[in-house]
Amino acid sequence: MRILAISGSPIRDGNTETALRAILEGAQARGATTRFVRLYELRIEPCDACGACVSSGRCMIEDAATPILAQIEAADGLIFGSPVYWNAVSGPMKHLIDRTYYAAHARQLAGKRFAVVLVQHSSGADDALGTFRCFADEQRCAMLEPVVVNTADRPGVVAGDRDLLQRLRALGERLASQAAS
Ligand SMILES: Cc1cc2nc3c(=O)[nH]c(=O)nc-3n(C[C@H](O)[C@H](O)[C@H](O)COP(=O)(O)O)c2cc1C
Repeated sequence: MRILAISGSPIRDGNTETALRAILEGAQARGATTRFVRLYELRIEPCDACGACVSSGRCMIEDAATPILAQIEAADGLIFGSPVYWNAVSGPMKHLIDRTYYAAHARQLAGKRFAVVLVQHSSGADDALGTFRCFADEQRCAMLEPVVVNTADRPGVVAGDRDLLQRLRALGERLASQAAS
């Protein structure tokens, strides 16, 4: 089973990434093959609303998102992690989600398990969650209970919280188990 984690944080080894890696550890413990993608290393163009994807079943823009979209299609389970920026997911995460518009029509992502992590100073995750929930609804993915982390802008919050790390690993195990079924 293949589990793909996608980070929408610019901070290497920051709280978002640490949380995603803990989820992947749990999935690996259940035998999953895992991949990790850092969106801030890529240049992902925004959806230009050309509308051609509705009939073609694919995004017409060819860029760094193209192989990521293929990996999303190939995965059994997805994990999206993002810091909360202005009560929303980060820009690159939003660009990627917009670029999956093609898949909603032909339901190419239907049935995948979907876990999400939002990392915030203290507020706004509820609004940001709306984007992830909308993705899950439109793509017919089965969303697991979301994880929200409050950092007060401190680095190492996730790495220093053993209970949270355990919860994240358990989520990964569940994701991998459910993705297998
Ligand atoms: C541009 C920007 C906007 C932000 N907006 C919010 C916000 O709306 N609510 C909040 O609680 N934190 C906000 N933050 C703080 C980050 O969510 C917080 O630092 C979080 O820990 C970042 O995740 P990371 O530790 O993985 O980098 C913002 C930070 C930046 C850089």
